[in-house]
Amino acid sequence: MELFTQNPYARLVILTVMLKETLEAGRELTDAALERLLPKATQAPTSIHRAMRHSVFAGGKRLRPILCMEAGRMIAGSLPSGIEDLGAALEMLHTYSLVHDDLPALDNDDLRRGRPTCHKAFGEAVAILAGDALQTQAYETLSRLSCPADSRVRIIEEIAHRTGTVDGMIGGQVVDLEAERTKPDLKTLEYIHRAKTAALITASVVSGGIYAGADQSAVEKLRSFGESIGLAFQIVDDVLDITQTSEQLGKTAGKDTAAEKATYPALFGIEESLKKADALVEVADAALSSFNSRATTLQALARFLVERKK
Ligand code: IPE
Ligand code: IPE
Ligand code: MG
Ligand code: MG
Ligand code: MG
Repeated sequence: MELFTQNPYARLVILTVMLKETLEAGRELTDAALERLLPKATQAPTSIHRAMRHSVFAGGKRLRPILCMEAGRMIAGSLPSGIEDLGAALEMLHTYSLVHDDLPALDNDDLRRGRPTCHKAFGEAVAILAGDALQTQAYETLSRLSCPADSRVRIIEEIAHRTGTVDGMIGGQVVDLEAERTKPDLKTLEYIHRAKTAALITASVVSGGIYAGADQSAVEKLRSFGESIGLAFQIVDDVLDITQTSEQLGKTAGKDTAAEKATYPALFGIEESLKKADALVEVADAALSSFNSRATTLQALARFLVERKK
């Protein structure tokens, strides 16, 4: 332990190993829950179940479930039993948002998670319905969570609100589309990023905390952490769209510039955008400072989000 706290190099090595382990174990747990919770590909009507699985099991990072589970672990002291179903529901909602984001009427993308997008593989009608179905499957899963009924209702409210139209994911997607080919001011840009992306990331850490029995003050700290890392996450997504290749990303690079999207690098340049993302991670770290060393994993995940390469 002395080595851990006093030798900065040893601390970095230990943190890197811990982080890798957290990411791998979290991904496996999430994938097993998704496998159990989603209708089988052989279940009629098979076209939609194949489409849902095509998009879900395509190698996503599973960051929202991992953040949710680690928030739960921080609050409870160990991983709360059954929390992976909450993580899986968040991943279903996230995947639904990607399936719809890629549709011709939205971003019109052909490649997602290293595969043809859902509408490319299954046609537009089934892709629209697969997105809808992932959403309804998520709420069915949430309604059955193994936590006290009042926590379950608060979790459902939190997630529904944060994926909705008022400061939530759908609202953000609407303004994102309406801002194409305009020169938005920082206020609009920040609104888009907070709503379309940070809102679901915030709901992920907050719901993980509620599942684990967090009190109101802990929930507010998790909320503040989630809002900062969520904004940083989308800033970095915008940067990666410019700096990485389609192969590295598993989705079409350079799309934002081509569609004249409202992005941080378009307004500030790459370097300044990354500085802003770094500063947001500092703010996120500070929001959890009262949890001391129990916050180490979430803080390491926050750093990983801005240093990621895909
Ligand atoms: C991509 O999210 C969409 C955004 C909100 C920026 P991720 O980068 O988490 O995508 P996956 O889940 O790993 O594919
Ligand atoms: C998507 O933002 C946010 C969602 C709610 C899906 P982007 O349009 O930047 O996501 P990518 O780059 O296509 O993954
Ligand atoms: Mg988009
Ligand atoms: Mg897109
Ligand atoms: Mg993007």
